[in-house]
Amino acid sequence: MALVEKELSRAANLVEAELERWLSAKYSGDTVLAQAMRYSTLGGGKRIRAFLVLQFCRLFGGREETALPFAAAIEMVHAYSLIHDDLPCMDNDDMRRGKLSCHKAFGEANALLAGDTLLTQAFEVITLAPDVSDASKAAAVRVLANGAGALGMAGGQYYDLADECASYEELHRLHRMKTGALIRAAAHLGCYASDSSPSEEALSAAAAYAENVGFAFQIVDDLLDVRGDAVQLGKPVGSDARNDKKTILSYMTIENAETLAAQCTEEAKKALAAFENSELLCALADYLMNRKH
Ligand code: IPE
Ligand code: IPE
Ligand code: MG
Ligand code: MG
Ligand code: MG
Repeated sequence: MALVEKELSRAANLVEAELERWLSAKYSGDTVLAQAMRYSTLGGGKRIRAFLVLQFCRLFGGREETALPFAAAIEMVHAYSLIHDDLPCMDNDDMRRGKLSCHKAFGEANALLAGDTLLTQAFEVITLAPDVSDASKAAAVRVLANGAGALGMAGGQYYDLADECASYEELHRLHRMKTGALIRAAAHLGCYASDSSPSEEALSAAAAYAENVGFAFQIVDDLLDVRGDAVQLGKPVGSDARNDKKTILSYMTIENAETLAAQCTEEAKKALAAFENSELLCALADYLMNRKH
């Protein structure tokens, strides 16, 4: 196993334990709602966004443990986005992370509430992070709200459903928002976990890396929806075609989409060239381009 895969799996274990804590009865109660939140957040997912938080914190001199609550918070927001994305009113997908999607397992109303609650409690988790300054927490709240909001993930989901994208440029904007914005937020959460006022140089390098990784990530996601394996992916293939979605393949061939993902990956790596100890983040960019799930 390559080092980046070992590190991903180590980070996934750390964030799993952290999420267990924040989704325990103490913070979430023990109702069916809490079960649905736990069902969709624990025990699955690649934990890429959590990994980015931990790695950017480390890159800029912080300790991984410090960043763990921020990593858990972004995975809660991501889990919420997946629950809602699968709902009948959105992509209407029955499988997620190798099991029934939340609304199939718990019903639509509980899935809706589980998403709402994960989104809300993610911000509570940030404010309760034990080892970061109030200034870092305030910045993290702003960064996460911005990445998840109308100019970020939720806004991107709006464009995705409204089918308002008539050109490649509009698809690029949609991808940057629905997927890139949370990936960028993850990178910035890591920066703010390491330092309450990270340098402009750090923030803009993190943004450049994350925007390129984010775009490549959604290109690969679109490709996998066409040619991936549903069992390996843990979610259905052909969802985009079934829903008449515009994807990268609405604008270019598979070969050109692969080339574009490779170019973005190179740009991402270049953005971190000036920083020592960025090898793992560079290896992650390559790993994500070649992923099968
Ligand atoms: C899926 O994200 C949704 C997209 C933004 C394409 P991931 O592929 O990171 O999903 P998990 O967390 O590994 O399940
Ligand atoms: C979803 O994009 C991005 C989100 C914000 C959840 P997709 O709809 O393509 O994600 P998958 O393929 O269902 O994971
Ligand atoms: Mg979708
Ligand atoms: Mg979907
Ligand atoms: Mg997809």
